[in-house]
Amino acid sequence: MIEVFRPSMGQEEIDAVAEVLRSGWIGLGPKTAQFESEFSRYVGTDHAIGVNSATAALDLAMKLLHIGHGDEVIVPTMTFVSTAHAVAYNLAAPIFADCDAQTLNLDLEDVARKITPRTKAIIAVHYGGRPVDIEALRRIAGDIPVVEDAAHACGSSYRGRRCGSLGEIGVFSFQAVKNLAMGDGGCLTTDDPEWSARARKLRWLGIDKGTWDRTSLDRSYWWQYSVEEIGLKCHMNDIMASIGLVQLARLETMNARRRALAERYFAGLTDLDAIGLPVRDDDVFRSSWHIFHIKTQQRNELSMHLREHGINTGVHYTPIHTYRCYGNCPSLPTAERMADVILTLPLFPDMGDADADRIIDAIRSFFGRS
Ligand SMILES: Cc1ncc(COP(=O)(O)O)c(C=O)c1O
Repeated sequence: MIEVFRPSMGQEEIDAVAEVLRSGWIGLGPKTAQFESEFSRYVGTDHAIGVNSATAALDLAMKLLHIGHGDEVIVPTMTFVSTAHAVAYNLAAPIFADCDAQTLNLDLEDVARKITPRTKAIIAVHYGGRPVDIEALRRIAGDIPVVEDAAHACGSSYRGRRCGSLGEIGVFSFQAVKNLAMGDGGCLTTDDPEWSARARKLRWLGIDKGTWDRTSLDRSYWWQYSVEEIGLKCHMNDIMASIGLVQLARLETMNARRRALAERYFAGLTDLDAIGLPVRDDDVFRSSWHIFHIKTQQRNELSMHLREHGINTGVHYTPIHTYRCYGNCPSLPTAERMADVILTLPLFPDMGDADADRIIDAIRSFFGRS
């Protein structure tokens, strides 16, 4: 069976974990600090704060922006539930915006319609790794802070700037199947030193010094710390970070492989009128190709056909405004229409050309084309 996603883990990751396990320090410590420093350099922000998931990073982002009861945050509906849950955790209202039919990113006209005096932030998801047109969003958003949910977009760039450095705050996921994977993990990126300092405390219960700092820094009364605000327990640890450091060093190579596989899909499927393909990269928009989705009116039948040929597929996503937990939301017609036709094809760095060709052949045979 060819899976939809698969992490690429090798001997280097295994050795890195073994080294940390033998080191005697497996919690929040020097490997996490090293990962944060290398990751912020990679993304192009002054600060990166390692946490245990993108969900936690989104929650921290809301807290940094002081979002609370009575506030509204515009979120895309074509995303994973974490994007809106983070708003709800903070007792604010997620206001769902429709998607663009081509990119599946935020429909910016719908965002403009949904801005009210209560809008305190906009969360922009780079769907599948395709960057949101951030300059166009910025024109609409004015002074409203933009949080990038870059869970899919590790390595994506817009006009040569990496996703995660385009908004006021960036959020990454290092969950098991993401482009940079640690099993679980996440990061918050920002240029703001005060937000960075506050996020560092909030990820560790509000405590103003990490255990590593208290242990390693040469100062008296090392056992003392202060807690000015109640935080979460969601920091990264050195086991995760040790995997992340290896994955970060391999990220460009892994993303290049994803790009090559995406090109193979484009070449093999372009002439099929019955399917729509994603928008290709150009000089402005460069995707990390986390998700390669196609669109077809025969989505369900095609997915069954592929399964019979040993190929798994996925649907990203059921529009999240339709889930009961968010109450009765108004209809978002494009996303609802897309939900019936989108299909995610397998794409991961260790996938072979022969696998891609097998998938292309199976799709072509479904549509009666050789
Ligand atoms: C767009 C998006 N945002 C947030 C998340 C949450 O990531 P995590 O599992 O690291 O909490 C995901 C996870 O798949 C996602 O796809």
